[in-house]
Amino acid sequence: MSEIIKLIKRVPKAELHLHIEGSLEPELMFKLAKRNKIKIPFGSVDEIKIAYNFHNLQSFLDIYYQGAKVLISEQDFFDLTWAYLLKSKEDNVVHTEIFFDPQSHTDRGIKFDLVINGIHRAILKAKKELGISSKIIMCFLRHLDEQSAFKTLDQALTHKDKIIGVGLDSSEVGYPPSKFERVFNKAMEEGFLTVAHAGEEGPSEYIWQALELLKVKRIDHGVRCLEDEKLVQRLRDDQIPLTVCPLSNVKLRIFKKLKDHNLKMLLDKGLITTVNSDDPAYFGGYLNTNLIKCQMALNLTKGDIKKLIINSFRSSFLSEDKKKKWIEQINKLV
Ligand code: HPA
Ligand code: ZN
Repeated sequence: MSEIIKLIKRVPKAELHLHIEGSLEPELMFKLAKRNKIKIPFGSVDEIKIAYNFHNLQSFLDIYYQGAKVLISEQDFFDLTWAYLLKSKEDNVVHTEIFFDPQSHTDRGIKFDLVINGIHRAILKAKKELGISSKIIMCFLRHLDEQSAFKTLDQALTHKDKIIGVGLDSSEVGYPPSKFERVFNKAMEEGFLTVAHAGEEGPSEYIWQALELLKVKRIDHGVRCLEDEKLVQRLRDDQIPLTVCPLSNVKLRIFKKLKDHNLKMLLDKGLITTVNSDDPAYFGGYLNTNLIKCQMALNLTKGDIKKLIINSFRSSFLSEDKKKKWIEQINKLV
């Protein structure tokens, strides 16, 4: 194993773009389907893996929402989150910021409280037993209407102690951030930080809207920003981080091959670029696999890897003190 790959594995890392429902491995999907007596349209783990051949974001989302239907009880959400945190431990991830999609559960009659309590219980255990810190970000599904988002925000108000921010995910094209300006304003009044998926499949205009209307602290994906030089300048001037998910982008055909990915260009333009796994059970790997495959495909230098890892801590919602502590440690190791 090359020195740089050993280094990637060894260094403490943060992950800022991870959908907990997207960490549902086929084996756990089967186990939960059995436990909850839910029929899934797959006969075996191998059949599931064959179905994970996507041609765009929507073809993935259809299967992702289907998979999430096996999650019923608080224990299921605990098991799901705990499994992700154990994987994080293996990868030396010491801080995670986890997205969840409450509407994909409440729309099936699953209680909001049960979902958040299951996820939260697992992150408390991980803090104690694995030394991993976490934050939770609640995403609104942008293919649903504003009213449903407002209702979801209302349900989150009694869990402000557990949820640090709100985000926006699901089908992008045709569902601009502007649709959620009022909900995001209310969320900010309530003290939530904001992030949004933008410029994954959708145009760079959606990134502008996320910045101007939703006042986001980070852009999730954002890889299409390079189509607009003024936008690149704005992202750089305001030091707005991008949570890039390289393996996801290849699986969803945003880029044909990993070697065509613009990650290195984003870095070289001085943007606060980070690497993340998005939906690791569906896209072929967790954080280390994303970093290692990018290093090999794009010839990333030790300096690039160090920058990506430091950027993740810098861009996190950790306190300034904790950020400083981790960055000092990385500076000693790399
Ligand atoms: N994009 C939009 N919505 C999502 C994604 C994504 O990559 N993953 C899970 N929900
Ligand atoms: Zn995502």
